[in-house]
Amino acid sequence: MNDLNIQAIEAALKRYASAIGHPLYVLASTGSTNDDAREAANEGAPSGTVIVADTQSAGRGRGTHTWHSPSGENVYVSIVLRPKLDTRRVSAASLVVGVCVARVIERRLHERGRERVKLKWPNDVWVDEKKIGGVLIEGRLRGESVQHLVVGVGVNIKTRVFPLELRDKATSLSLLGCEDVDRADVLGELLAEIGRGMLRYEREGLEAFRQELEHKDGLKGKRVKVGDRVGVARGIDGEGCVMVERETGFIEKVSSGELFVLDGEAEGNILARPSKRW
Ligand code: BTN
Repeated sequence: MNDLNIQAIEAALKRYASAIGHPLYVLASTGSTNDDAREAANEGAPSGTVIVADTQSAGRGRGTHTWHSPSGENVYVSIVLRPKLDTRRVSAASLVVGVCVARVIERRLHERGRERVKLKWPNDVWVDEKKIGGVLIEGRLRGESVQHLVVGVGVNIKTRVFPLELRDKATSLSLLGCEDVDRADVLGELLAEIGRGMLRYEREGLEAFRQELEHKDGLKGKRVKVGDRVGVARGIDGEGCVMVERETGFIEKVSSGELFVLDGEAEGNILARPSKRW
């Protein structure tokens, strides 16, 4: 049964009172919904336009990563937004969307362990340190203002067998014991959550998400590497940067880059802890 059809999605958008999802395009297959949404945005698609596909042949993650996008299993969606945001606030938006994705997953997990849903800065949603969702925000910026953003989200729902290279790194709602999840329902809830979340971010900034970001921070206290910097993650600051404590005790704010979690317990790995702080 195809649970990701236009009628089911429209009903879910209504159920969750989603402000976004109008217009809605549902594709059986495509290369990447982010590419489709970018094209639509460049042609003037309104804020709130949503493109969803049952499968992607060239699903993309951040950097050079691909996004595993088999048919009939998961949610792959891209949203065109035209927020009134300064370009400096775009990168933290992926944390906001990550919080929205995490909330929807938490509600599905119920007693199965909602406390296990975490964010891995800057754009991953983790359960037990395995990726269940990812956010890819791309956009067209002019000067200091945003012309449009394309917010791409992938959520693993029914995939039980991942390609070998992802097997230790990825999970899905099915693998976590949530069977018979209706993809249209998840999508409707996700779009409603992202619509509200991004509006709140636009109006109130990251401060409105501060507590939740802190609670869901899956990196805090872990040894990490970003670029050539190695240290212990010490939380996310008010601008969405991850704070990395170097061996010298100096805390560096990192605003972008791919972050790797290093093996070994962090606490105690730092031998000297001078009091220097910025
Ligand atoms: C990441 O984890 O690096 C981000 C993954 C984003 C994947 C989604 S799936 C829908 C949209 N289309 C894409 O090609 N990518 C995003």
